[in-house]
Amino acid sequence: MSVSTSPVRVTVTGAAGNIAYSLLWRIAAGDVFGHDTPVSLRLLEIPVAATAAEGVAMELLDSAFPLVKEITVTDQATEAFDGANAAFLVGAKPRGKGMERADLLAENGKIFGPQGAAINDHAADDIRVLVVGNPANTNALIAANAAKDVPAERFHGMMRLDHNRALSQLAGKLGCDTTDIENMVVWGNHSASQFPDLSYVTVGGESIEGKYEQSWYTDEFIPRVAKRGAEIIEVRGKSSAASAASAAIDHMHDWVQGSRGWATGAVPSDGSYGIDEGLVCGVPTVWKDGGYEIVLGLELNDFQKQRLEATVKELRDERAAVAHLLG
Ligand code: NAD
Ligand code: LMR
Repeated sequence: MSVSTSPVRVTVTGAAGNIAYSLLWRIAAGDVFGHDTPVSLRLLEIPVAATAAEGVAMELLDSAFPLVKEITVTDQATEAFDGANAAFLVGAKPRGKGMERADLLAENGKIFGPQGAAINDHAADDIRVLVVGNPANTNALIAANAAKDVPAERFHGMMRLDHNRALSQLAGKLGCDTTDIENMVVWGNHSASQFPDLSYVTVGGESIEGKYEQSWYTDEFIPRVAKRGAEIIEVRGKSSAASAASAAIDHMHDWVQGSRGWATGAVPSDGSYGIDEGLVCGVPTVWKDGGYEIVLGLELNDFQKQRLEATVKELRDERAAVAHLLG
């Protein structure tokens, strides 16, 4: 196939890490920007892992992807984000067994201010940033805050993995395909307080009311989805990587190419649903024309309001804990 357009510049941080080892290959294969859109890949690492990132670049080269026009490895954020159209901010420490993601805030939070500033000063005007490094919502807030000239709506946290987990758990319960499910949302923080909400879900266009027990919903489904990251760490011995990369691909794909109905996006709140304006919070979103819209006007019952308030409170607490990084 011949390739016509000029390359999309894509920056991936944490390029020598576990997630990047899946993510880069999917980007290179055209799964985000399209199978006829060439890409220029910028791999950012810290100096100690720069050689390993060179090895990743060598393997990418050896894969002979027709769409990959250039691969750059650097430990300089200014170079990595120069002219970037899309950035996956993956580089950050993962949690281990027994930790919560918020325990990473002190160490990881300080990565995202300088990277936000470098994006502000060097990225292309149409930059789209997806923060994967945990705690993703608050790290996205920090990065956005450091990029005063870039609209905050260009900085998202990754909650698509939670969304995909919710789809799979529900599909298993109802015996349907994940693609039959519509109007799923995971509200709030990418943490154990998140609220995977079945209130609006339809399967094959029909309500699923009465198709599951309330006890399954509150005692199995919600905690299973919310604590799936910890379950993966327990069973696999390491934090999720391929599924995280896949979710990152889904998020950026939909941002660029549009979504099939609702998808959960951790985006800056516009103040709707009682979520403090500016908090990067999981909400129902629809993606089209290269952007997104928050699904507005949904009725929330007392149970939903209570769950949403609990997870928003945690986001507020995280924001307060990094106030010194918000400038
Ligand atoms: P990893 O340890 O395998 O790789 C992280 C890489 O980031 C390392 O190579 C490290 O050298 C690099 N790095 C650290 N600081 C950096 C910086 N300032 N600039 C550039 N690179 C830097 O970890 P991983 O498994 O790839 O996970 C990465 C992050 O993603 C973790 O914080 C993890 O918790 C998070 N995560 C988020 C989700 C989500 O759904 N939001 C899902 C899975 C993992
Ligand atoms: C996940 O949800 O799998 C990631 O956020 C990794 C983790 O720490 O749980």
